[in-house]
Amino acid sequence: MKKTIEEHAARFSDIATDYDESQDSEEYRACVSLVVHYADPSDDDVVLDLGTGTGAIALALAPDAKRVVGRDISEGMLEQAREKAAEVGIENVEFDEGRFRDPNVDDGEQVDIVVSNFAMHHLSDEEKRETIEVISDLEPQRFVLGDVMFFGEPDPEEPYYSPEVDDPATVGFLADALTDAGFVLTAVESVHEQVGVLVAERAPDIDE
Ligand SMILES: C[S@@+](CC[C@H](N)C(=O)[O-])C[C@H]1O[C@@H](n2cnc3c(N)ncnc32)[C@H](O)[C@@H]1O
Repeated sequence: MKKTIEEHAARFSDIATDYDESQDSEEYRACVSLVVHYADPSDDDVVLDLGTGTGAIALALAPDAKRVVGRDISEGMLEQAREKAAEVGIENVEFDEGRFRDPNVDDGEQVDIVVSNFAMHHLSDEEKRETIEVISDLEPQRFVLGDVMFFGEPDPEEPYYSPEVDDPATVGFLADALTDAGFVLTAVESVHEQVGVLVAERAPDIDE
C-alpha cells in the first residue's frame, strides 16, 4: 500500500462531496455497468461491496438483492452513500466502516456475492492476496472485481494509474490469487489496457 489506510481514508473524505461528479470517464462508467451486470443478484442474495465509496455499485444492486452491505474506510464517502440511499428511498442497504482485509462482517453472516469497483488497487499485491483469501472465507458464490489492473506493461502516462497512490496488480497475478483461493475465473473483460473486470465463481467441490 502506497499510503496508510488512514491517509487513504482522509484523502477520500476530502473529495467525497465532489467524487460522483468527478467520475465521468467512459471507462469508469463501463466498469460500473460490467460489475453490476456480472454481479446479477437475485432477491435471495446478500451482496457485500468492498470499497463501496459513495455507493455506486451498492445502490445499483440493492433493488435486485435481498440486502447489500457496503464497506469502506472513509466516513466522508460512507456519509454520501447513506445520503444517496435515503434520497432514493433504498432501505435494504447498510453502509459502515470495513476494510478489505477486515470487512466488518459477522462470523457466519450470509454473503452470496462480493463486489468491488475501483478500490482494491490501493493495496499491495500481498494485501490483495490476503483480501482474496478473506473474501473466499466468507464463502460467496461469486466475486466480481472491477479495478485498475495491468493487461500489458504498466504506463503511468496512461490514465487510471498514479504510482504515488495506486498499486495495481497484473491480471495474471489476480487470476492466480483467485484460483489459489478456490475460485474459477469465468470472465475477463478489458475496459482499457489498465482497467478491467474479473468474474470469479466459487469452484465446485469435486468430491460432492
Ligand atoms: C475510487 S473509490 C471507488 C468507490 C466505488 N467503489 C466506486 O465504484 O465509485 C475507492 C474507495 O476505496 C476505499 N478504500 C481504499 N482503501 C480501502 C481499504 N483498505 N478498505 C476499504 N475501502 C478502501 C476508499 O475510501 C474509496 O472510497
